[in-house]
Amino acid sequence: MSDKTVVLTDAASNRSASLPVVAGTMGDPAFDIGKLNKDTGYFTYDPGFMSTAATKSAVTFIDGDQGVLLYRGYPIEQLAKNSNFLEVAYLLINGELPRADEFAKFEHDVTHHTMMRESLKNFFQGFHYDAHPMAMCMAAVGSLAAFYHDSLDIADPAQRKLAAIRLIAKMPTIAAAAYRYSIGWPIRYPRNNLEYCSRFLHMMFEVPSEPLQMSPVAAKALDLLFILHADHEQNASTSTVRLVGSTGANPYACVAAGIAALWGPAHGGANEAVLKMLAEIGDAKSVGKAVERAKDKNSGFRLMGFGHRVYKNFDPRATIIREMCHKVLGELGVNDPLLDVAMELEQAALKDPYFVERKLYPNVDFYSGIIYKALGIPTEMFTVMFAIARTAGWVAHWLEQHETPDAKIGRPRQIYTGASTRDYVAADKR
Ligand code: CMC
Repeated sequence: MSDKTVVLTDAASNRSASLPVVAGTMGDPAFDIGKLNKDTGYFTYDPGFMSTAATKSAVTFIDGDQGVLLYRGYPIEQLAKNSNFLEVAYLLINGELPRADEFAKFEHDVTHHTMMRESLKNFFQGFHYDAHPMAMCMAAVGSLAAFYHDSLDIADPAQRKLAAIRLIAKMPTIAAAAYRYSIGWPIRYPRNNLEYCSRFLHMMFEVPSEPLQMSPVAAKALDLLFILHADHEQNASTSTVRLVGSTGANPYACVAAGIAALWGPAHGGANEAVLKMLAEIGDAKSVGKAVERAKDKNSGFRLMGFGHRVYKNFDPRATIIREMCHKVLGELGVNDPLLDVAMELEQAALKDPYFVERKLYPNVDFYSGIIYKALGIPTEMFTVMFAIARTAGWVAHWLEQHETPDAKIGRPRQIYTGASTRDYVAADKR
């Protein structure tokens, strides 16, 4: 809290409120409107939270104009180059990079919580074969609360940590199980001799009849994608986790709610939508038509993978991923015609005044889907991949929320626009 205030006066009634300015370590300051209604009789109206900070947080910082993304102060570019996903998860949760012994313990703990209970495996049998893996993951993650009664006491810091580890550990197991069930293959157990991303790829692709040949490039690429997707401050799914968390709900329910929020095409579902869009466009020659359609407000069509609520110059994750995209496709020997469509679309949109004026640049999801495709991950799994990575951020925010004294239940207000008070009319008089 700084000692500055912002005074807001209603000229008509002459009632005013002196609003304390709240400043963080970086970024724009805010003024605290907590007492505004009491002092002036006004609420604030901000659909989509365009100008509203819902919490203080020390996890992630974004400067949308400068294209800056920091996890606990570390630039995403440095983490992408030097770190790995599990180390980043540790950083997000604990606030500091681990020493070697701290990392070894964390990795051991995550590795030894990767198994699902056998009865949870049976849940998958209850789904129709063509169920979307996001639906299965959401249900399976929510159901973890029914299995782990030893980590539901949210007042106990040790239980909270255990739940966080379990969620990071089990998400890949659940995700791979959802995929395997959907294609009618046996669900694989996690192999603890493998690292996090290799273990996941093994559970996805290993068949009982022959050993799996995995390119190390695949696990490395996946690890990088997971780093880039691990957190993004108060995005829709993280805000959902926090809102559900504010009610005191258990961590598995909170993360299941986060998965639900992530599923939407305006959020994590965009990577799946990008691939569908590229396939629909079909070839580089048809890109011009697609761009025209996206500019026509009546078409209901938007270029998926373009634009961002916060980044208005460029998405730093997209810059990293774009470079990797070409490298991975080259190293895996993939020659994907959809990549030609993507590159043509990127160039066309970057030159088009409609997109330039509105600062609509390719976002992280524009490229991530292409890489996932090259790794053999099916389109329906793309958002699930995002969910695996974002679990690190969700639990970091959930833990932070529960370490904050005097936290309140999240309860937005509204501007009521319905009928004014009226009397009930009997059915024969309507
Ligand atoms: N294609 C065409 N026009 C667009 C697009 C697009 N992808 N995105 C925004 N616009 C236009 C929009 O019609 C509006 O035009 P006008 O000012 O003439 O009315 C203007 O740009 C501003 O759009 P907005 O909807 O007010 O912007 P927003 O900040 O509310 O929405 C967004 C951000 C990401 C939801 C939006 O850009 C979008 O729908 N993009 C496509 C979906 C997508 O790629 N989502 C992934 C986001 S990154 C992953 C993540 O962090 O979850």
